[in-house]
Amino acid sequence: MALTAVKGFNDILPDESGRWRYIEQTARRVFERNGFGEIRVPVLEKTELFCRSIGDATDIVEKEMYTFTDKGENSVTLRPEGTAGVMRAFIEHKLYAQDPIAKLYYMGPMFRYERPQKGRYRQFHQIGAEITGVNDPLADAQVLNMLTAFFREIGLTEPTLQINSLGCPECRPAYRNALRGFLEERMEHLCEDCKRRFATNPLRTLDCKVPGCVEATLGAPSVLEHLCSGCEDHFSSVRRYLDLSSTPYSINHRMVRGLDYYTRTTFEMVTGLLGSQSAVAAGGRYDGLISQLGGPAIPGIGFALGLERVALLLGSQDFVSLPDLFIATMGNGERDAAFRLMDGLLKSGVRVEMDYEGKSLKSQMRRADKLKARYSVVIGGNEVVSGRASFKRMADGLQADAELTVAGIQKLVGKPEQ
Ligand code: HAM
Repeated sequence: MALTAVKGFNDILPDESGRWRYIEQTARRVFERNGFGEIRVPVLEKTELFCRSIGDATDIVEKEMYTFTDKGENSVTLRPEGTAGVMRAFIEHKLYAQDPIAKLYYMGPMFRYERPQKGRYRQFHQIGAEITGVNDPLADAQVLNMLTAFFREIGLTEPTLQINSLGCPECRPAYRNALRGFLEERMEHLCEDCKRRFATNPLRTLDCKVPGCVEATLGAPSVLEHLCSGCEDHFSSVRRYLDLSSTPYSINHRMVRGLDYYTRTTFEMVTGLLGSQSAVAAGGRYDGLISQLGGPAIPGIGFALGLERVALLLGSQDFVSLPDLFIATMGNGERDAAFRLMDGLLKSGVRVEMDYEGKSLKSQMRRADKLKARYSVVIGGNEVVSGRASFKRMADGLQADAELTVAGIQKLVGKPEQ
């Protein structure tokens, strides 16, 4: 039996990879304009890193990690997200000693053992960005504006931005208690997971999709009404900066995140177009994470977007690069001339295809159509002798006479000399 890929792990075929490159290039352009530099960290880390950052009582750490013991008896994990590894590298290489303000971005595969469905995979890809060293809400607003700019420049009007504040270690315990007080009276309506969350991580009950839990938590106390004055000021400044830059957003006080390291501002870019996988990008502030991982007390904020989800939203737009020219030959006698011309054109940046198998003219033209070449030309003895040929623009059949040289063809297809 032929081997297949592991469930939830996808191949990205050439048809699709053009769209991926477009997403990656747009992100690089927008992020670098904002002063972010790329960091590349390993996909495998010590398991402890994720337990200490994402949190032991989260779904990711409890149920979804690809954890195994390597041949040296070390517990290692395929990264389920990027922030923990990037902050580990930030601390390990003492990047903060050069400048506590680091602006870093990354892209690559992440791994979570979730139930695969549209928009949710076991190997998926994130593009993320993080800023360290800035407490000021200005950094929150810049990160949100950058994320908004990414979606605008990629040409999507969905998703939309939702923001919330989860408070800080000072005010969150009081909120957690208020929420527990509310949930206590509704325990019998909660699912088994949420009964457990009541003790370990009650905020997660607000995020549960089970209908009974959704109903039971209607009217739950809002985190925004329990913020300390520092967190309240921070959140109102973030909103003011967003208003100053005309960035559209709405407030969702029920938004809790699936990772424990968040403090204060959290956010998601959400869409109704991907079924139950509504978050296309998400992130927030993590002011305690770096010190929790053994580094200095430096704050941070960032986000990650799901590449597969952005690709789904972009839909079937054509991102495949098409040949500029297909060279057909009347017979075998012209194949050397056609090959030399193709070689010269490829070296000068024109994308060319020709027939590899000495097929009939008719079947060569069928291939030119199939490859969606912009122009085609047929080279026969006359063309070789005269050094000119008639080029057909495939979209409308228009014929244009031009020199059968690299320079002549470059001019015709509109590719500048390199
Ligand atoms: P997250 O919300 O767990 O946050 O993931 C961010 C994004 O990754 C999601 O909004 C979604 O688009 C995508 N994603 C997550 N899981 C899957 C999956 N199984 N299949 C496909 N796409 C998925 C984080 O990972 C944080 N590290 C974000 C962050 C950066 N916070 C601060 N800095």
